[in-house]
Amino acid sequence: MSSLNSINSVLKESRRFKPSNQFVKTAFINSAKKYLELWKKSIKSPDSFWKKQANESLVWAKPFSKTLEWKLPHAKWFVGGKINVAYNCIDRHVEAGLGNKAAIIWEGEDGTRRILTYNELLNEVSQCANALMELGVSSGDRVSIYMPLIPEAVVSMLACARIGAMHSVIFGGFSSDALADRNNDAQSKLVITADGGFRKGSFLSLKDNVDEALKKSSSVQKVLVFKRSDRACKMKDGRDYWWHDIVYRQSIHSKCKPFDSEHPLFLLYTSGSTGKPKGIVHTSAGYLLGATISFKYIFDIKVSDTFWCTADVGWITGHTYVTYGPLSNGASIVMYEGAPNFPDWGRFWSIIERYKVSIFYTAPTAIRACIKAGDDWPKKYDLSSLRILGTVGEPINPEAWLWYHEVIGNKKCPIVDTWWQTETGSAMITPLPGAIVTTPGTATVPFFGIEPEIVDKAGKPVKKGHGGFLVIKKPWPSMLRTIWGDDERYVHQYWSQIPGCYFTGDGARQDKHGNYWILGRIDDVLNVSGHRLSTMEIESTLVSHHAVAEAAVVGKPDDIKGEAIVCFVSLKSGFKASEELKLELQTHVAKQIGALARPDQIRLSDSLPKTRSGKIMRRLLRDIAAGKVSTQDTSTLEDFAVLAALRQDDDI
Ligand code: PRX
Repeated sequence: MSSLNSINSVLKESRRFKPSNQFVKTAFINSAKKYLELWKKSIKSPDSFWKKQANESLVWAKPFSKTLEWKLPHAKWFVGGKINVAYNCIDRHVEAGLGNKAAIIWEGEDGTRRILTYNELLNEVSQCANALMELGVSSGDRVSIYMPLIPEAVVSMLACARIGAMHSVIFGGFSSDALADRNNDAQSKLVITADGGFRKGSFLSLKDNVDEALKKSSSVQKVLVFKRSDRACKMKDGRDYWWHDIVYRQSIHSKCKPFDSEHPLFLLYTSGSTGKPKGIVHTSAGYLLGATISFKYIFDIKVSDTFWCTADVGWITGHTYVTYGPLSNGASIVMYEGAPNFPDWGRFWSIIERYKVSIFYTAPTAIRACIKAGDDWPKKYDLSSLRILGTVGEPINPEAWLWYHEVIGNKKCPIVDTWWQTETGSAMITPLPGAIVTTPGTATVPFFGIEPEIVDKAGKPVKKGHGGFLVIKKPWPSMLRTIWGDDERYVHQYWSQIPGCYFTGDGARQDKHGNYWILGRIDDVLNVSGHRLSTMEIESTLVSHHAVAEAAVVGKPDDIKGEAIVCFVSLKSGFKASEELKLELQTHVAKQIGALARPDQIRLSDSLPKTRSGKIMRRLLRDIAAGKVSTQDTSTLEDFAVLAALRQDDDI
């Protein structure tokens, strides 16, 4: 845990925005009073609250007998119940007569367009589920999904859910090494991929990365490949199978087997402050309930809505608010494969106009990039279909919030700033759009059933207005259940820092209105473009380069990305600092981890600032990276000359 006792908060923002009368008229939760009543009830009697929600929102194959079995820190929700997650996301809507409703409205970066109705989604998921079984996958097996953002990524996830296999989606921007590590950790049996996908006008050959990864991941026996382009693609006999050969010849009927409420649904890797990425484990009924009801109330979803969450399915947002939350509610979603600036910065806005998107959910980093590109782009398009805007992934700065509100929302759309994590499974602190008065920069109030608290290092609540560590006091259905293969780390990292509470790793403060302001991560994890990256992983990648002796990675505030990656690197003897070497190291990291982790700056020096006990003094490096004159305590620093040398090394 951070050595800070509490956190200083300097941001002051007090403008308040009420939902319009027009909006309030049709909202599910239409006043702060109603929200507060329901929230209080959910905290006072969590058992009856969750029981009612689970029975009303999900279809059970067998009813549960007990809402929660809680042996801190292990939770079992809806004990005794049986459910099929895919049935809840597809079949039940078809049975209710919604088969012809659009489930997925997809646009490829190259302009290809497809619509899958709930009927078509059911057929394709059933065929894919049958194909997975033919390829030897059964309940409990792990399947890695490494795909571009195409409907088949969602189809694959739901096909796994249908047969009880766990999916592990790996973001298509990750490198072959990252894929191999994750395959190995999960001991995946099958990889589902595509020949490639389009991004920023280029074709990224994902299958080549899979071939590379499979040289190092021996658990994988077979590869299922969707053909996204007409390019040539190498296939290995007996190992690689084309989707169009094996999936489309299957029956469109597949039995929806019920699974226990706690049957594992998926694992998703995320960065932690120490060591390798953690496989966060989510299970069936509780996760689905969190996704379903948070989606319903936060986006106030109505039958006529068209919902677009721009996240990739490789992140938790793409699991909960592209796939499970919307589909469980029978909503129509938009999916777009590519970059926001291809072929130009009008792409997002043209998609909103074309499909009459009514709810748009994206990340502050994307909003800031659009602001930079200029107001002329959104102004070219008709955005009048929008009624709610959302953000997720990092704190949103008030300027970006106001731009979003004025230029995109035409001052009429409530903005839901949703705070949550891979581990929490669904949004935890968020306005409800028809009930809560918002202020730019705050995620506002807890969702139903969620009880946050801000505490100091000793676990004591801090005074209102003071910064501290954000913890959650009670278990909730969509919480992670463990870390794959490392329950000890689960207990230590999330439940031991502040005994009895879930430790979020974020700092926060609460204002006089009760709003929670998230102050960012308190450990050594960077938040780059809304994605958590481990400094450790980048450091060990740098050290794997033959010229590097030691590396320390820190974040530096960045207008667009939230945090930029700054790497302090000392070289082995015999290697000379040069611009070429800096470039080579940047490329090395991008190649090993993925373009997202490409360092923004490399600073080379003979050595790094350390304490006498040999610990790298990161807080000093953070100041240097930010160009600040350090006021930090340097009494434990071993060699002062190192600091001066580091300050002199210019940026690239
Ligand atoms: O620091 C918080 C930040 O993102 C972290 C979670 O990252 P990840 O597990 O990758 O999930 C991102 C998408 C849910 C949090 O610990 N974060 C997320 N949403 C917000 C946020 N910080 C401030 N405001 C938010 N709305």
